Parts: sequence; structure tokens; C-alpha cells
Amino acid sequence: MTYINSLELKLSFKIISSMFSILFRFIQVLLLSIRHMSNPDLPIIKEGWKGNPMVKNSFVNEDKPSDMNMIEFMKWRLYKNPQKQEKKEDTFKVGFVKNESFPESENDMIIWLGHASFFIRLGGVTFLTDPSYFSFPFRTRKVPVPCSIDRFKNVDYVVVSHMHHDHADMRSLRKIFKDNDKTEALVPLRGGMYMKHFTKRYQEAGWYQQYNTKPEVEVFFLPTFHWSRLHVFDNNKTLWGSFLIRANGKTIYFGGDTAFGNHFSEIAKLFPEIDYAIMPVGGYKPRSIMKVAHIAPDEAAQAAAIMNTKHFIPMHYGTYPIGQEPSGEPIREIKRMESEGEMIGCVNCLSVGEEFLIDSENGEQITFAACGEAASPANGYDCVREYLTKETPEFGAGVEEVSGVRNPELPVDEMVAK
Ligand SMILES: [Fe+2]
Repeated sequence: MTYINSLELKLSFKIISSMFSILFRFIQVLLLSIRHMSNPDLPIIKEGWKGNPMVKNSFVNEDKPSDMNMIEFMKWRLYKNPQKQEKKEDTFKVGFVKNESFPESENDMIIWLGHASFFIRLGGVTFLTDPSYFSFPFRTRKVPVPCSIDRFKNVDYVVVSHMHHDHADMRSLRKIFKDNDKTEALVPLRGGMYMKHFTKRYQEAGWYQQYNTKPEVEVFFLPTFHWSRLHVFDNNKTLWGSFLIRANGKTIYFGGDTAFGNHFSEIAKLFPEIDYAIMPVGGYKPRSIMKVAHIAPDEAAQAAAIMNTKHFIPMHYGTYPIGQEPSGEPIREIKRMESEGEMIGCVNCLSVGEEFLIDSENGEQITFAACGEAASPANGYDCVREYLTKETPEFGAGVEEVSGVRNPELPVDEMVAK
């Protein structure tokens, strides 16, 4: 009798608790209007993924609204910078190689165009990432694009990680689509609301979805911990994320903009070995505010370790003044960690315009100098064809133009350790 009573009690407790859970979920849905969104036309690659959660019609990070709201944004703008003087005195400039030929080359390669903009050719398929080629009001570009942007012809895909001006510059996008009527944009969910002004050829994807692409390449949209806004009233109305491109037996991860989060482990579960990780490392100070939007260099290194990346390519530094840190601090920190053995794989600090070749049969070759250092026999270059410091009306003195041919006998990590 006692046994039956206790069974009944357990059963009623279970029923009541599940009723409460349903009621709680119902209230949550009613009050917060949580729903999940994905593109029904694209496959989802993560088992059990319901789609991206949305609260009150806005995208969120891990089921909670983004911490970066208008108040935090204003705080960031008004925050007194303790490194103001150090930032002012920092003479760091990213390396720059004028290079007009890579758009027509047939080699698979990664070319940094500055900030988060890259030209990638993998398996013969070409990509432009997060196009932003000009200065903005109060945000002057510190390094030129390595070639005339008229040369970006017959580009297959433009990938846009999220709608922030420094990643989705409308002027740059308009120019690309004006010159390339066959180019397709691969964008986050609802990103089409901006892309439709330039092209009809775009696909929107949610996290863990695979875009419908040419058979020789696979492109996946993956999470980041971030937010989005282009205008005053579109906060988080479009999704944000990162990309994984796979072709010819190689994987390139393009990290977009992100704070640190569990998403790196989730990505690692799906893609246990990443050949090249292009990771943001700048715009991380003040930490109290920026920690919800941008990873610091040590977190980028930690993320690369979680994702087991073979090559780490830093980006999102030295091009626009984003964070309060001195402009050379992110890359100095990356180099310090590398020299102290705190980073896995090879660290490849590219100069803007440097050809970072991807050769699936013979390993990787690097041409030109890295991290703004002059190419010289001392840092692994066989011959130095040209090294000059130019003064341009737009970018002033000190933009380094370097070129050289790297000694193929010298291992990549030995070169980047310099
Ligand atoms: Fe951003």
C-alpha cells in the first residue's frame, strides 16, 4: 500500500513538474516570443539543432539577448583610455605589398586585403570575405588595398559574416556586385535585406547550415558570439557568424567577429581538424565592454587550440582603429605567445597583399615578408628584390612596400618565429 502511495506521489510529482515546465515554456514563448529560425532550403549539419533562437524578433547569443546594446556601445565610446598616450606613440604599421596580379593567378591562396577582408582561392573557387575597402567617417583606413578593386572580376562568392560597417561596407559591396553580375553573396539569416539592393544572387544561412554551392567546394555557416547593427533600429535583426570553406582536401575557417564562447568547442566537434584559421585579434579593449564582442589575442590563441588549427592567421587589427589598445599590441601579443610556446601550429602574420599559397601536394609556401618586417636574408628570404618606404597622400609616410622570395628550404614556423 505504502509502495503504491509512493509510486503515485512520484507520478503526480512528475506530472506536476512537466506541467510546470510546459507552463514556463509557454509563458517564456508568450513573454519573450522565443522562436527558432533557419533557412528551410539548406541542410543543417548539426544533429538536433532547431535553428537560431530569436527573442522578440531579434537574434540572440546562446538563448540570451546580446550584451552589446546601445548603452554599452555609448559606454565604449565614452570610456577613458588608460593607454591613450601609448596608443598615440605606437608607430606600428601592418606590412604592405602592392600586388595587382593575384586576382588573375590560378594558385590557391589567401591574400589579406586589410581588416577582415580577404581574397581566398580554394579548389579554384574564389571568395571575398567581409568587404570593406574604404575609410569611414571617424575611422580612417591605415593601409591601402593591395590592388585596384576594379581587378576583382569573376569572383565566385562574397561571404559576409555579419552586418557591421567594417565587415559589410555598402560602398564596397555595391562596387563588387556592379562589376560581377555572376557573383553570389553568402550571408547570415536576414542579411538579404541589405544584399537585395545590390544583387538578386544571395543565400541566407543560419548556424550549422551548409550553403548550396558549386560541387567543388563546401561552405558552412557557423556560430560566433557577437551582435549586428548597421543602422539605429536594426540591432540584431540580422544574424552573425563565421564560415568554414572546404575544398581540395583543405579547410579554411574564417572567424568573422566574435567574443569567446562555447561555440569554438562545438565547431571543433564538427570539424576536428582545421588547416587554416583566420582569427580576429584586435579591438578588444576596454575588456570590461569589449569582452562580449571581441576576443583578445590570448583568447584567439585558446580558440585555435580548441579547434586544433594547423595555421593561425591573425586579422582585424592594424587597418581601422577599432579598440582602445595601441594598434601594434595585438600582433606583439601574438608573437610573444608564439615565442613562449603558447600557440599551437604555425602562426602566419600576413602582410596586406602578401601571397599565402595553399599547395595541397607540397605543403605551404609563403612569399613576401610578414608582420611589417622588411624582407631580408636575415629573416628567411633568399633575395630581396625591392624594399621601399613610400609616402602617399592618402596613407602618409611609412607604409612599407616589401617583396621578396622566401627560401623554400626554410620551414614555415622558423620563418614566422622571427
Ligand atoms: Fe562586428
